[in-house]
Parts: sequence; C-alpha cells; structure tokens
Amino acid sequence: MGNTEVMSKLAPQGARISVLFSAGEIATRVRELATEIVATMGPEPLVIPVLKGSFIFAADLLRALHEEGAEPDMDFISLSSYGKGTQSLGEVRILRDTEADIEGRDVLIIDDILESGRTLAFAKDLMMARRARSVRTCVLLDKPGKLAVQMKADFVGFKCADRFVVGYGMDVAHAYRQLPFVGVVES
Ligand code: IMP
Ligand code: MG
Repeated sequence: MGNTEVMSKLAPQGARISVLFSAGEIATRVRELATEIVATMGPEPLVIPVLKGSFIFAADLLRALHEEGAEPDMDFISLSSYGKGTQSLGEVRILRDTEADIEGRDVLIIDDILESGRTLAFAKDLMMARRARSVRTCVLLDKPGKLAVQMKADFVGFKCADRFVVGYGMDVAHAYRQLPFVGVVES
C-alpha cells in the first residue's frame, strides 16, 4: 500500500483510523534507518528510547540493528511534555531516568515524533551534560512546521503531515498504542 493510498480500519475502541504509514512501509523504512545508523555510528551505540511512545519503533529498530551486525547497549528514559491531552505543555519532565553510565558513549536517542523539538532537545542536552562522546537522534516521524526550538533529528523515518497520529506505540490518552500501523483517528 502506498503512502497516498489511505486505508481505513476499525480500531478496537470503535473509531475509524486512517492509515498514514502501513506496517509494511514502516518495516522497510526501519531496515533502511538501521543501515544508515550503523554506517554513521558504528556497531556499538548506546540506544536510549524515549518512553512511552517510541517503544515499538525502538524494539523493531533494535532488531534491525542486530540484522546489520550491530551490538547496541540499551537504556530507557521516560519523558513527558504532553499530559493527557493532545497539546504540548511546553515543559519536559523526567518521569523515569536512565541508569547507564553515559560518559564517553555514542548515544542514540530514539523518539516517536519530532514536533516542537522540546522533548528531543531536552534529552539531547541531558546526555551531553552527562558527557556522552556523541549524541544523535532518531525519530519515526518528523512533523514539519511546528518547531519551537532549534532541533533537527539525525535520522528520520518519515515526514508526517501536521495531524495527530496514533498507533505503532503512539497514543491518544493511552489508547491505540497496539495498532501495527500509524494512523489518524477520524471520529
Ligand atoms: P515535542 O516535544 O513537541 O517535539 O513533542 C514530541 C512528543 O510529543 C513525542 O514524543 C510524542 O510523545 C508527542 N506527540 C507529538 N505529536 C504527537 C501525535 O501526533 N500523536 C501522539 N503523540 C504525539
Ligand atoms: Mg513521547
């Protein structure tokens, strides 16, 4: 299915979800990203997904990195800028911090979406302050036009229209994370 060919499915909660990026499109792009990442960062990055939204993307990307011969380390950070709604609150909070020693590591921060850029900028600054040797960022989706801070992801899955999206780990009020595709809630 092509990017432009929008397919509607019935979500478990009963709303219609239009598919923006299908499971197959995502899988192909994840493999390409893994190739780019290993070529740029080498085989031993410290991979840090920003929970919760990136957990499915990160899990698929980690296995794709393995297919590329990488031996990454993993840690996790949980950040919140959204609360329960669909509007960013503009302030990033650490809900759960990393445990690994960051100093001297080549860190790859993974997030689901780059929107205002505040979440990724916060995470990147934090890892730099902890004396990472290098910090790169990877997002599944880049929503252009909404940047509020200076932030550009090093690796981007897809450019995404300025819609509120769900699925493949992403939620609205904790619903729809389980969907295998990225879509838009229609009703
Ligand atoms: P930023 O800090 O404004 O760049 O926002 C990035 C964070 O907002 C992401 O990690 C997501 O968790 C969340 N977010 C932004 N847009 C969406 C969306 O369309 N659906 C679900 N979460 C979103
Ligand atoms: Mg998030």
